[in-house]
Amino acid sequence: MGIKFDSVKNELNISSATLKNWIKTNCLTTDKKGFITTESYDYFKKNVLGKSRLNKRANKQHFDNPDTVFNVNNNDDAEQSAIQYEQSLSIAQKNKKGIYYTPSSSIDDMFCALPALSATDTFLDPCCGTGNFLIKALEKGFKPENIYGFDVDETALKIANNRFYQAVGKHSNNIKLINLLEDKHAQKYDFIFTNPPWGYKFNAQQKINYANKFNNGIKVDSSALFVLICLNIIQKNGMLGVLLPDAFFNITAFKSVRKILLQKTFVQLINHNKAFDGLQTRAYSFVIKNNNNLTNIKCKTATSQYTRKQTDFIKNPNYIINFDITEAQAKIISHLYSYPHQTLAGKAQWGLGIVTGDNAKHLSTTKKANCKPICKGRDINKGEIKKSQFYIIDDFAKLQQTADKNLYLADKKIVYRFISSNLIFALDDKQRYFLNSANFLILNQNTLLAEEQLVFLMNTEIMNWLFKKLFRTHKVLRSDLEKLPIFNEFFKTHNDYCEQDLHQYLNIEKHNGTFRIKK
Ligand SMILES: C[S@@+](CC[C@H](N)C(=O)[O-])C[C@H]1O[C@@H](n2cnc3c(N)ncnc32)[C@H](O)[C@@H]1O
Repeated sequence: MGIKFDSVKNELNISSATLKNWIKTNCLTTDKKGFITTESYDYFKKNVLGKSRLNKRANKQHFDNPDTVFNVNNNDDAEQSAIQYEQSLSIAQKNKKGIYYTPSSSIDDMFCALPALSATDTFLDPCCGTGNFLIKALEKGFKPENIYGFDVDETALKIANNRFYQAVGKHSNNIKLINLLEDKHAQKYDFIFTNPPWGYKFNAQQKINYANKFNNGIKVDSSALFVLICLNIIQKNGMLGVLLPDAFFNITAFKSVRKILLQKTFVQLINHNKAFDGLQTRAYSFVIKNNNNLTNIKCKTATSQYTRKQTDFIKNPNYIINFDITEAQAKIISHLYSYPHQTLAGKAQWGLGIVTGDNAKHLSTTKKANCKPICKGRDINKGEIKKSQFYIIDDFAKLQQTADKNLYLADKKIVYRFISSNLIFALDDKQRYFLNSANFLILNQNTLLAEEQLVFLMNTEIMNWLFKKLFRTHKVLRSDLEKLPIFNEFFKTHNDYCEQDLHQYLNIEKHNGTFRIKK
């Protein structure tokens, strides 16, 4: 017989809300009749109650330290423990430590790349969590003694070990506490599949250590570090599959890791979309073979399957792996880049919009003495700037971050929305100030083309199409703009121009809402 809610509330002097939270986070469990089980209550009083963190945060939904509140019993249904353990972690903790366990369907999709196995093939998940990849590897036919799983979370490892034991009837010595970021590891594996921690919040010392250790100009990011580690411990001709945030495949910070990866044979690329509950970030995976027979890659999105040439990605600016566009779209990109062009790199001065530090304090809707109008990103439309709604005191010393004042005061500057998935550019010849939702550039004299021509070009549908297909971003970054082809030759032969003229010049046409190369 369990214990009534009221008895627990009275004995511990807590509110109903607190009790509900403790049940929700598995500190206490209930039986079929809705009573608190005696077993969980005794354990709770002995091991958990009175620990300062729990008392301080009694009314919070989840707890910071799962080890103090999550009890793993060898006899529990380990599959259930795995689910409950993940549920017991707070969102903050999951994000801080990159703990999102991989859904079964995503692992199935990644494992489509597996060939027929031999009895000696070894499998590793170097950050195995509660063992989702390990259990799937068993199902796929890897021998239990050839399956390895490492992690730094002892609770998760205990659950992974229990799951493994319950699946094969004997314990594994290979599922253990190993931190590959810190430990030297000489063993190599035939197959490594994983979903590493994304965006683990390293402390300052770890950042310095890892920057020195991996010393290849990469951003110190947990997912990128794990990709590099895996490359070091995969057998020649072995297979590596990694599930990563979509940003890994296109942002400049990961350019050097993509460059290294693209020297290996890509086998498969999948867009898993928003695969994780509670996480907006899209998940993409790659599978590579550790050799270099560059060839066609199988690509899969929610709606289609097709192949892409690996060489396309190698030719892309920044080694962007934009596999969610089709072969035909990739051909248009190569076609566009085959036309004479320059880029903006080294041809302009760039400036950021103003960060006031406190908009409520520094902006006003009425004009006061010594105030100037200031525009926001959304005041910029294609080719025009709306009248600003706000004024700012004209004293840069009071503001948190500004570009050199002379840049804002240039005769002609080209301003663009910063937070946008479209290119939205306009010419400012009225020396306006802009907030940081807009950025700007000032063309060097006598280079390339006139400001008006650049504004026209950037706003065209074809440049927008190219920008989206290449960078798939919601921020218009200088580094991306500097990679776009600027067709300055077009303007030499076109005094008057419209978008249609540009399409003609580039030998492309619109077709079903997208573009194609004219026959
Ligand atoms: C995104 S979870 C994925 C877990 C498992 N691979 C899966 O797909 O279900 C990332 C895992 O990496 C672990 N982790 C974080 N830092 C680690 C490190 N330095 N070494 C090994 N594992 C680590 C976390 O504890 C967590 O279990």
